[in-house]
Amino acid sequence: MAIIWLTGLSGAGKTTLGNSVFNKLKKFEKVIILDGDELRKGLNSDLGFSMEDREENIRRVAHTAKMLYDNGFLVITTLISPTFHSRKMAREIAGEKFFEIYIKSSIKTCIDRDVKGLYKKAINGEIKEFTGISSVYEEPINPELIVDTEILNIEESTNKILSFLIGKNIIEFGLDQNWFKVNFGGKKLNLTDKQYAVFIGRWQPFHLGHQKLIWNKLKYNIPVLIMVRDIPNDEKNPFTTKEVVKMIEKVYEDKKDLIKIIVIPDIESVNFGRGVGYEVNEFIPNETIENISATKIRKSLDEKSENWTDMVPEKVVEHLKEQLQNKL
Ligand code: ADX
Repeated sequence: MAIIWLTGLSGAGKTTLGNSVFNKLKKFEKVIILDGDELRKGLNSDLGFSMEDREENIRRVAHTAKMLYDNGFLVITTLISPTFHSRKMAREIAGEKFFEIYIKSSIKTCIDRDVKGLYKKAINGEIKEFTGISSVYEEPINPELIVDTEILNIEESTNKILSFLIGKNIIEFGLDQNWFKVNFGGKKLNLTDKQYAVFIGRWQPFHLGHQKLIWNKLKYNIPVLIMVRDIPNDEKNPFTTKEVVKMIEKVYEDKKDLIKIIVIPDIESVNFGRGVGYEVNEFIPNETIENISATKIRKSLDEKSENWTDMVPEKVVEHLKEQLQNKL
């Protein structure tokens, strides 16, 4: 998996976001949090807040994170890690798949929030060497991700981190807030209730991105209703509706019980009201999927190159090759 190293001032939201990402993922992934405050109660209880002690704190946590990473965990660390030097050390210990995420919030906001009441004490001189007041915090220059908690709320910040992890292929494509809530809110899914997950598209042609998108539902045995927009053929829509239906049927020929394909008239828009009673999802493609596009496929087909074959399911390759043969 990976190590995501959350850095930022005390009160910026590291622990909150670490926990919230953890809670979203815990049912699906081996995930663990290493939290500064918690570790300082035990493993690191001999350490204070001098730069030396902080470095030692970070060194120990980085080694622990690395061990957990080697055992297949997604490790979330939430330590201030105030200096370039300490974060660089953590990165070096952790090795590959280390992502520094800067949980950004100004010192002023952290003082205003003062969740633990420590800033007040630090300002009054009751706590020495307090980060941001009497001890340095060096803002990350090149973190893999910045999450600004003055702009984003908890849910948005959490989603930003989840999207980042999806983009890096660390967690699976298609994890979004609704997906979690609805499918795994303790509800047992069975096939007989036949509530279909709907996918609307032109599918010109049906490609691997589409297949992956639909897989987000299919893998949980959720029946899928694929709606094919019936549109006139033109340059952008070279396949007839019938052809598209055939193509998709081929792909899912061994999943007939789960997949239903219907043709719908062309649509102007998709609209839904508040509290409609079903989830509305926008799936975020990962880097690989993002590079697949129907336009590219059509272009490659026009140019009679073979590039398109990498972008569509095998069954569609077969099907289209057959079609092309017939046309010759
Ligand atoms: S680090 O600098 O060594 O990375 P770490 O994240 O473990 O810090 O601990 C920070 C937490 O310790 C803060 O969230 C805060 O609750 C508490 N704390 C107590 N004293 C200090 C201090 N002088 N500076 C920063 N945090 C402190």
